[in-house]
Amino acid sequence: MPTYIVLLGPPGAGKGTQAKMLVEKFGLPHISSGDIFRENLKNGTELGKVAQTYMTKGELVPDDVTIAMIHQRFARPDCTPGAILDGFPRTPAQADALEMMLRDFGGHVNIVPFVTAPVDVLIERLTGRWTCKANGHIFHEKFNPPQKAGICDQDGSELYQRDDDKSETVTRRIEVYFQQTMPLVEYYKEHNLLFEIDGDKPIEEVSAQLMGALQK
Ligand code: AP5
Repeated sequence: MPTYIVLLGPPGAGKGTQAKMLVEKFGLPHISSGDIFRENLKNGTELGKVAQTYMTKGELVPDDVTIAMIHQRFARPDCTPGAILDGFPRTPAQADALEMMLRDFGGHVNIVPFVTAPVDVLIERLTGRWTCKANGHIFHEKFNPPQKAGICDQDGSELYQRDDDKSETVTRRIEVYFQQTMPLVEYYKEHNLLFEIDGDKPIEEVSAQLMGALQK
């Protein structure tokens, strides 16, 4: 039976950072809807162009576009043992679509770690984030700095600041999260899948909480 872990939480809570560690531990693919949109943007695809118009404003890409993209991603063979989902689902319609898709693959969502942190912490994390151009490795100028400024420790590629990490866009992304994604907290609570993780702790402590939740 495949295993599906859904990382839920506001922008900047640390979902991507933790997902990369889980990939190493569990050997499951990391499916980040934001990363797939950014990859499409880099490659100049139609999907990338559509997504960009929403992402630069801090709005969500429409459900039909996002669901179709994730469906395609699940069809790839590396997803046979399951996946770590980061940034999807983000609306009740996406959560319903996910359940239907997973049924087709013979599985269901196993656990939803809900990583939280106060809004001022989220803003400081996002506005100080640096991301690696080659593979999306994540750093922070204060909390998780690279050994050499501007260079990724893991693969030596250049680090950049995401366009949507400008402070006005960050504020909008957090508002959108509260309006459109927060209902999923109740949704997964009702399904007995939600596990709260205090994301306002150092990265290693958050990982330890997460591992504790996943081992139960
Ligand atoms: P996406 O790329 O998914 O961004 P997000 O959800 O806003 O999340 P982030 O990647 O910003 O934060 P994170 O929680 O992963 O934090 P991270 O680990 O990087 O989405 C971008 C856009 O794409 C959306 O706005 C939307 O337009 C579109 N989109 C994506 N999915 C969609 C969907 N399903 N439907 C519709 N539209 C969609 O950490 C942040 C920083 O903090 C880093 O610098 C890190 O080093 C640091 N840090 C992490 N943990 C800690 C810690 N414990 N202590 C100190 N620092 C820490």
